[in-house]
Amino acid sequence: MAGIRVNNLTFTYPNQERPVLKDINIDIAPASWTAIIGHNGSGKSTLVRLIDGLLIPDKGTIEVNGINVDENSLGLIHQQIGFVFQNPENQFVGATVADDVAFGLENRRVPPAEMKKRIHHSLEMVGMLDYQDAEPVNLSGGQKQRVALAGVLSLMPQVIILDEATSMLDPLARQEILSLLTELRSKQNISIISITHDINEIELADETIILDEARVAKQGPTKEVLKDGALLDKIGVGLPAGQQLKQLLAQRGINVPDNYFSLEEIKQWLTQQLQ
Ligand SMILES: Nc1ncnc2c1ncn2[C@@H]1O[C@H](COP(=O)(O)OP(=O)(O)OP(=O)(O)O)[C@@H](O)[C@H]1O
Ligand SMILES: [Mg+2]
Repeated sequence: MAGIRVNNLTFTYPNQERPVLKDINIDIAPASWTAIIGHNGSGKSTLVRLIDGLLIPDKGTIEVNGINVDENSLGLIHQQIGFVFQNPENQFVGATVADDVAFGLENRRVPPAEMKKRIHHSLEMVGMLDYQDAEPVNLSGGQKQRVALAGVLSLMPQVIILDEATSMLDPLARQEILSLLTELRSKQNISIISITHDINEIELADETIILDEARVAKQGPTKEVLKDGALLDKIGVGLPAGQQLKQLLAQRGINVPDNYFSLEEIKQWLTQQLQ
């Protein structure tokens, strides 16, 4: 079956007593955008490392697009999944932007003509084509993350996992990466899994999974999951702006109905009330 399925997964790090993840069940649909959230140390990165086959579960199974993740399928799994990590400084391996994107393609032994095409196309997608000969020292953090994303895109994965990939960027660069992901998402059949603490990034996801105390505390449509203010507070994620506004309005006796969620929707509802 397409998508990612995690069944009854339990994982304990060697020399640790308690499992980091316990009886985890997750379904991620193909071409969906999923946010994984939870406080520091809740096992978010561990979960995606397990999905990528970099760690082996104590118990349970993981399937990526119908392929069971185990020692024998690692090559296939790594073709399906691309990663972008937190620190843009640690992701650059090439002397120039183009070399950096070429690196992954060379590893896959993509023929030179095809490689040239893919480098061009992926740098174009992330808006970095003009910088193909630039050296990493001359790039901003946001530009480096865009090049990292181009490197991933050039390998044409089905799933892109972003492990706090925007957390070290300034607000503008973060917004640029998020717009870029939104655009990619609308043009291609790629699944996005983003681990993040940023409420704006979470709100872009169709589905959200909350990890807490080694378990899935909640999973479902993002709009539903974000209604649990107490749980968001517990894991240190602030309420979405729309929720905050609703609370302020409620204190003044204005009760916005449940189905108005974003700032824009609430504005529309308020406008209707005034007419
Ligand atoms: N290699 C390791 N060996 C032993 N314990 C580890 C190892 N890596 C992580 N841990 C522990 O496992 C738990 C989960 O770590 P993980 O990195 O998956 O959390 P996280 O949710 O990604 O946290 P953060 O938000 O800080 O990135 C933490 O308690 C961490 O200390
Ligand atoms: Mg982490």
